Formats: sequence, C-alpha cells, structure tokens
Amino acid sequence: MTDRPRGLALMAEDVAAARHRDPAAPSSFVIWVSYQGVHAVWYHRVAHWLWMRGRRSLGRLVSQFARRRTGIEIHPGAQLGRRVFIDHGMGVVIGETAVVGDDVLMFNNINLGGTSMSPGKRHPTIGDRVVIGAGARILGPVYVGSDARIGANAVVVKDVPNGATAVGIPAKVREHPKPAEAHTAASCVDEGDSHVHADDVGHEPAMYYI
Ligand SMILES: CC(C)(COP(=O)(O)OP(=O)(O)OC[C@H]1O[C@@H](n2cnc3c(N)ncnc32)[C@H](O)[C@@H]1OP(=O)(O)O)[C@@H](O)C(=O)NCCC(=O)NCCS
Repeated sequence: MTDRPRGLALMAEDVAAARHRDPAAPSSFVIWVSYQGVHAVWYHRVAHWLWMRGRRSLGRLVSQFARRRTGIEIHPGAQLGRRVFIDHGMGVVIGETAVVGDDVLMFNNINLGGTSMSPGKRHPTIGDRVVIGAGARILGPVYVGSDARIGANAVVVKDVPNGATAVGIPAKVREHPKPAEAHTAASCVDEGDSHVHADDVGHEPAMYYI
C-alpha cells in the first residue's frame, strides 16, 4: 500500500507546492487554471502512465502536445517525484532516463539532458528538494544530491553532493554560508512588502532572485 494521493488530491498538492514556492502567485485558483509549469507536470503524469503500460507512441504524442501547450518538453519515460514545481517553465527539456526527486524546484530554460546517443541511463538523477536555477544544463548520468542548489546558467557535468551549491561553467561546488546568515535578496525584503505572502514561512532565499 502507498499513501501517495491520487487524482485531484495529487493535483491539489501540486498547486499547494506552487503557491508555497512562488511569492508572485496571487491565488491558488490562478495556479490551477494558468500555471504552465504545473500543467506540464500533469500532462507528464498521463504520458508516463501510458509509457509504462507499453502505449509508447500515445505517451509521446501526449508529451509533444504538452510541449506545444506549455513550452516544456518532458519525455514520457522520465520519472518525476511529488510536488515538483517548474516556475516560469518555458524552454525546460527533461530527457527520457532522467529521475527527479520530490519537492524539486526548477526555473525556465533548464536541460536535464543526455551526452550519449546510446540507449540506457544517460540523463541526470536529481535528489529531493533540489533548486535548479534558470538556464542551468545538467548533462549526462550525473547525480545531484538532495538539497543541492544549482546556480542560474550553470553547466553541471559531474556529481554534486547533498546540500552543495554548484555554479559556473563547468559547475563547481562552492562553500557557502547557511541561508540564514547569507546576505541574500530575501534578507532585504521589507516587512509588509506586498510581494511577501501573509503566510510566508518557508521560501528559500534562492526564490527571491525572481
Ligand atoms: C546559486 C545561488 C542559489 C547562490 O545563492 P547564494 O548562496 O545566496 O550565493 P550569493 O548570491 O551570495 O553568491 C555567492 C557567490 O557565488 C557567485 N554566484 C552566485 N550565483 C551564481 C551563478 N548563477 N553563476 C555564477 N556565479 C554565481 C556570486 O557571484 C558570489 O561569488 P563571490 O563569492 O566570488 O563573490 C543563486 O545565485 C542562484 O543562481 N539561484 C538561482 C535563481 C534563479 O535561477 N532564479 C530565476 C528566477 S526566474
């Protein structure tokens, strides 16, 4: 038995995750009806379900339809965890053998791409709660550990340890202060700023680079 929610409950969980992680989201309703990054994950669940039952052409068609609707291309064979949120989304490409953990946050123009033309595992595995900055390319069957942060425009071609921050081309792991000590944009947001949700308790500093 699994306690994984299904159907509408699973979708509601996605919407709640997006609301929690997007300081600019005006309401849950707007996310339900208009957030392409959330819709792309929903299309992917259908495509992946078909793919896993041998309906590969149909799965691929759903995935390509989703790409046209959302600007996000997720191969139906890719495995996505729960509450994955693709913010802004346009230009994201996730390859066939990619695995993405729970609570991962991605921005626009990200590639979880392959470096080999041979079949088999050739795309990245991303741990839980990873944040992947806009424009990042994570290439090959590398492992990005849980709670890692990948900087905007980084090109990752080697494993990234749990909790590490990797930036640059090629991406290098950087020592960094704990988020609470870092001078981030988050620490500069005034109390009462209209961009902060009243119930805002858990946004990562990286979110405030939007
Ligand atoms: C990687 C990241 C999470 C680091 O955040 P942080 O720990 O607060 O780090 P800081 O901003 O204090 O920067 C620390 C150092 O890393 C460098 N750095 C930070 N982000 C970088 C990046 N994307 N590429 C290259 N260098 C980067 C800074 O220049 C600084 O270098 P220095 O120590 O030599 O001065 C953040 O910079 C980032 O890229 N977040 C992604 C946000 C994003 O994609 N938003 C898109 C919204 S649409």
